[in-house]
Amino acid sequence: MIIDVITIFPKMFSPVVGESIIKRAQSKGLVKINLHDLRDYTRDPHQKIDASSYGGGGMVFGPQPLFSAVEAVLGYKVYPPQKKDPQKRIVLFSPQGKKLDQKRVKKFLRFERLVLLAPRYEGVDERVVRYLAEEEVSIGDYVLSGAELAAMVFIDSVVRLIPGVVSDQESVKKESFENNLLDYPHYTRPENFRGLKVPKVLLSGDHKKIEEWRQKRALENTKRKRPDLLKK
Ligand code: ADE
Repeated sequence: MIIDVITIFPKMFSPVVGESIIKRAQSKGLVKINLHDLRDYTRDPHQKIDASSYGGGGMVFGPQPLFSAVEAVLGYKVYPPQKKDPQKRIVLFSPQGKKLDQKRVKKFLRFERLVLLAPRYEGVDERVVRYLAEEEVSIGDYVLSGAELAAMVFIDSVVRLIPGVVSDQESVKKESFENNLLDYPHYTRPENFRGLKVPKVLLSGDHKKIEEWRQKRALENTKRKRPDLLKK
């Protein structure tokens, strides 16, 4: 998968995409993340990328730099449309988008290329929303000062699901939100910590019993902490 990020703060991304699982995924060749500075694509002599809102109001990201950046990255005109490329998706991050959850994260795995638009939260010209972005994504019902963090959350959640990125794929299948259930409780050494003991069944070596216990606990956990998931 190739992920292109278009942002005015590419440096914000470097520490995140350059560490841990995402770093490893890139060195294994499973994903390539390209950071693009939006200001490199503006035709404004002062490298401005925003202007005041027509009709009054604050500043708004103009269409030209965003359209030019995406078209340079993809190598063809997006509007007027020249071709259909079902392998790519142009995603705009904003609080007005569809809310990201594990199910939506998985849907992005089928694309070979994702182009992520991560503007500051001051507003984006509506022509970008309608004619450039193919999908608008929000990471939750709150407002960030910019979409950079939202894009990083998105990248992390997608990249870890690419086959081969997390070495234990079975653990990915069993984690929270699979089948609308939260994860079961985990314990590790010591068996007895200040009198707090690990449930006996986990030490029994009886895999069938352990599996039953885990399923029961996952259901209990979900009922207690996130009953809304069970209604889905
Ligand atoms: N930009 C500002 N707030 C956001 C949010 N909640 N999700 C995605 N992008 C955003």
